[in-house]
Amino acid sequence: MAQTIVLITGANQGIGFEVAKQILESHKTYYILLGSRDPERGAQAAAELDPTSASVEPITIDVTDDASIERAAEQVASKHGRLDVLINNAGINNEIDIALARMKRQKEGITEEPTMPLAELRKLYREAYEVNVFGAAAVTEAFIPLLEKTAALPPRIVFVSSHTGSMGVRSDPSQEMYPRQHKAIGPVYRSSKAAFNMLMLHYAALFEDKGGKVNASCPNLTATNFARGMGGRPVSESAVNIVRLATLAEGGETGTYSDENGPVPW
Ligand SMILES: NC(=O)c1ccc[n+]([C@@H]2O[C@H](COP(=O)([O-])OP(=O)(O)OC[C@H]3O[C@@H](n4cnc5c(N)ncnc54)[C@H](OP(=O)(O)O)[C@@H]3O)[C@@H](O)[C@H]2O)c1
Repeated sequence: MAQTIVLITGANQGIGFEVAKQILESHKTYYILLGSRDPERGAQAAAELDPTSASVEPITIDVTDDASIERAAEQVASKHGRLDVLINNAGINNEIDIALARMKRQKEGITEEPTMPLAELRKLYREAYEVNVFGAAAVTEAFIPLLEKTAALPPRIVFVSSHTGSMGVRSDPSQEMYPRQHKAIGPVYRSSKAAFNMLMLHYAALFEDKGGKVNASCPNLTATNFARGMGGRPVSESAVNIVRLATLAEGGETGTYSDENGPVPW
């Protein structure tokens, strides 16, 4: 049986690494291209998952660097000739320290907020959007020709999104997460994930006629380096829905935004 080739960006740690692990455990014919922007960290993570290299191959890909993305696509083209599943997982939250400081002030009843210089604000937005939005768009575009050569399967693309990007969760008081999510915290990261969701819908429409399955998954707060001590659930739980979407069968859904409990409001 032909192997199913899966590329996961930012898979040297955290949720991406766990997704690779769970796919390998549950799908014996899957082959993981373990994306990492740092070659050494990528090689280490790949060896940890599969010391024999039979089912995992590290691939260097920095989603903010077009030359790196193109090199990765060429590497996959020359070695495998196709891609079956792309998981846009690489992501950053560069305003966590700001959010934590704001939450602390709110707890202490301090209502006055320091003003951020506009240049600093723009820098934050640019950095976050470079990875979370422009990076995912560039990676997806670069791999479309290879996804179109998928073997026997509908191609699948998973966007690792976030409840924090949901306008519904944020604005509808009947939503369980509303008390936490409606707060005025994290505009940079949250708007980037809202844009990311629209990007996902674009690619879902693009692949509609070809039977492609393109979906977004919300991991929920997860105890990775990303969460910087804010707590969160284990990666083993957060990876489950991503793995499900990455391994969808032909009749599976497309153009959805979900977690393991079902659809998440847009
Ligand atoms: N953890 C949460 O609470 C949570 C909640 C909702 C959604 N998410 C989403 O889940 C995804 C994975 O997050 P995580 O919690 O696993 O975070 P993580 O442990 O910090 O892992 C993030 C991964 O992205 C990589 N990355 C960062 N910038 C990159 C770039 N320019 N090019 C390529 N890779 C890059 C990191 O590489 P390095 O190791 O080199 O830094 C790392 O491998 C993200 O999209 C995040 O937005 C996380």
